[in-house]
Amino acid sequence: MRHLVSIKDLTDKEFQVLVDRAEYYKKTFKCGDLSAAQKNHVKLLGKTAALIFSKRSTRTRVSTEGALSFFGAQPMFLGKDDIQLGVNESFYDTTRVVSSMVSCIFARVNKHSEIQELTKHSSVPIINSLCDMFHPLQAICDILTIKEHLDYTKNKLKVAWIGDANNVINDMAIACLKVGIDVSISTPSGIEMDPEIIKAGQEVAKANGSKLIVTHSSTEAATGANVLVTDTFISMGEEYARVAKLKQFQGFQINSELCSYADPNYKFMHCLPRHHEEVTDDIFYSDHSIVFDEAENRLYAAMAAVDVFVINKGNFSAGPDD
Ligand code: CP
Ligand code: NVA
Repeated sequence: MRHLVSIKDLTDKEFQVLVDRAEYYKKTFKCGDLSAAQKNHVKLLGKTAALIFSKRSTRTRVSTEGALSFFGAQPMFLGKDDIQLGVNESFYDTTRVVSSMVSCIFARVNKHSEIQELTKHSSVPIINSLCDMFHPLQAICDILTIKEHLDYTKNKLKVAWIGDANNVINDMAIACLKVGIDVSISTPSGIEMDPEIIKAGQEVAKANGSKLIVTHSSTEAATGANVLVTDTFISMGEEYARVAKLKQFQGFQINSELCSYADPNYKFMHCLPRHHEEVTDDIFYSDHSIVFDEAENRLYAAMAAVDVFVINKGNFSAGPDD
């Protein structure tokens, strides 16, 4: 059985299958063809799926529930106040019980070790829907979005990250490097990328003709970039550190001055939800911004994950129509 924990666990080919599958389902979904809808609707008909979410979510919840419904499965959203987990019941017992009744578990947790625990004890595929280290569904969506707007298969691109060193960039960096996109990561000094991610990124870069730069200079990262990306400076669960972190992030806001270093046709991306401290309105709502296309693509990334990991049980060679 395969789980989706992080992009770094996938071969380059497997990652490409997920992006292609997301693109495929986008076309299928948007064409509005009833017979295609019916064909997909029976793939998980009669099944259920659990969303064990210990944190808030808009995009991940809506896209996941939408994708599961598209394939005929009944999603069950289990927020932290809905089930016994953590108050009356252990992680182990919850995992054994829930996985015995559903076709898959989408899990949004705090620590990466919780995702690892889930994969150890679950009898069904686990799809990591955000932990402190990774956000693979976001990365699948982001590569599809870059492909649609700038086509990395035809153009050599540079993605610049201006922000924190955690879940979103960890998977996005590996994903970009896998498809040949150069990545420049800038974080404030004192906020460092995980050395394991840098090492994995360098190996992926070497194998795919891409380049990984890690710096503390936001202007160095932004220079000549085709895509500027950021995320909240205060991730969920870190609210206690808000004042100190905002101080550290001075000089890291994406604004017109920072954007003047980028390629004139740059695109702006953000996984959302967005706050003013990391990007100004004139950039966020500008013609350079592709954030709402990016958000929509979360639906197709979720469909791709359900197809590969749940319907085809981790068999990447099976096509969507097999
Ligand atoms: N980008 C993302 O994961 O958004 P949500 O937290 O709203 O799911
Ligand atoms: N880094 C953010 C991502 C939210 C989708 C967080 O962990 O809250």
